[in-house]
Amino acid sequence: MAAIKGPVLVFVLAMAFGCVVCYDRPVARKDVSIPQPKELSPTSPQQVHASVVGADKMRISWITEGSAPAIVEYDTSPGSYSKSATGSTSSYRYLTYKSGKIHDVVIGPLNPNTVYYYRCSSDSTREFSLKTPPALLPIKFAIVGDLGQTGWTNTTLEHIRQSNYDMLLLPGDLSYADFIQPLWDSFGRLVEPLASQRPWMVTQGNHELERIPVIHSTPFTSYNARWHMPFEESGSSSNLYYSFDVTGVHVIMLGSYTDFDPASDQFKWLQDDLGKIDRGKTPWIMAIIHAPWYNTNTAHQGEPESTLMKKFMEELLYKARVDFVFAGHVHAYERFTRVYDGNVDNCAPVHITIGDGGNREGLASKYMYPTPEMSIFREASFGHGQLEVFNATHALWTWHRNDDDVSVVADTVWFTSLSSDPACKL
Ligand SMILES: *[C@@H]1O[C@H](CO)[C@@H](O)[C@H](O)[C@H]1NC(C)=O
Ligand SMILES: *[C@@H]1O[C@H](CO)[C@@H](O)[C@H](O)[C@H]1NC(C)=O
Ligand SMILES: [Fe+2]
Repeated sequence: MAAIKGPVLVFVLAMAFGCVVCYDRPVARKDVSIPQPKELSPTSPQQVHASVVGADKMRISWITEGSAPAIVEYDTSPGSYSKSATGSTSSYRYLTYKSGKIHDVVIGPLNPNTVYYYRCSSDSTREFSLKTPPALLPIKFAIVGDLGQTGWTNTTLEHIRQSNYDMLLLPGDLSYADFIQPLWDSFGRLVEPLASQRPWMVTQGNHELERIPVIHSTPFTSYNARWHMPFEESGSSSNLYYSFDVTGVHVIMLGSYTDFDPASDQFKWLQDDLGKIDRGKTPWIMAIIHAPWYNTNTAHQGEPESTLMKKFMEELLYKARVDFVFAGHVHAYERFTRVYDGNVDNCAPVHITIGDGGNREGLASKYMYPTPEMSIFREASFGHGQLEVFNATHALWTWHRNDDDVSVVADTVWFTSLSSDPACKL
């Protein structure tokens, strides 16, 4: 009997409230604490992560407690490191916290679709490996925002690991350290098993700001120090917005929490960047923001980072025929149809909110009714997305729900590129 009760109750509730699918919402989970392993010496690398730089290079970033050389030694078989590169070391202070030594080294040129083995600071106790993205399509992206470091984050990461993705894209809100700097270190340790193996490309969210009036007035101190993205290479003057090409896709990382008005550097940079895209080389374009421009959840309605940024920048993305806009911020999943200026438009980007990585604030489970026709799928569950771009015309998007610690594909849709649609020619 007990086995029948649950579904019957769900059915009755579904009839009563008219929802298509009802779930018992999982509760928020506590932070998982990843302490520094005792066996690590002050010169052992920790919090290792990789990001792409230009067409054939990678930046390796890591932290040591004490002074250690900013050197990465690498090659294509384990235990032999015939190539090496050196870089720079920095650190920062935040209130009473002083960071470890943050090292940044760019390695390459590297071959595409190749596994490299590497060690950092010449430490022979920890060998890492890293696969470079393929030169030609297909490529598989894992996309997840608002990650945090809870029990849900942990299982979401495990699902992502199993996907054998090529690159992770993170639309902001990484550690949820929220001023408590050691939590940036534990986040670095939590993601290291994945982020040291594949490039992780991130943009910032509101939780990265960490600005305290008068006391610490500089925003993004920790984020910028720890997650150096390839902004210089894309002509940007700020780590908060940048772009890159990877395997047939032009990815634009925008900053929702820095200036975006038409007189801003970011706006001018975006105009320039869009003007330089070669659709023959990158038939797909995606943009990543933190605060969504389309959102039918009751959470985060009417914030200027959503409404004003959309007002200023939406036309630029539309006219460039950007295929996708991914956002985070709202702790739920929502997929829209192609939409521009509030209307369904077949030549506009698909907007997807994927802010459901697993942070400690829990899910945003209230929606606006009736459901607007442009909102195709919405659900307040943890999870992550995968975008597999097969060729110049076809890409497969899947959303993987993480409600019971298992990965369930709950939304699947094929997209065709706007560059291949004659009706969308400009
Ligand atoms: C994280 O997940 C892994 C595998 O899914 C599990 O073995 C491990 O115990 C989890 N760690 C924490 C701190 O929850
Ligand atoms: C692109 O990939 C899709 C999905 O695998 C396939 O159906 C289609 O034929 C491919 N197009 C070309 C031109 O190869
Ligand atoms: Fe956020």
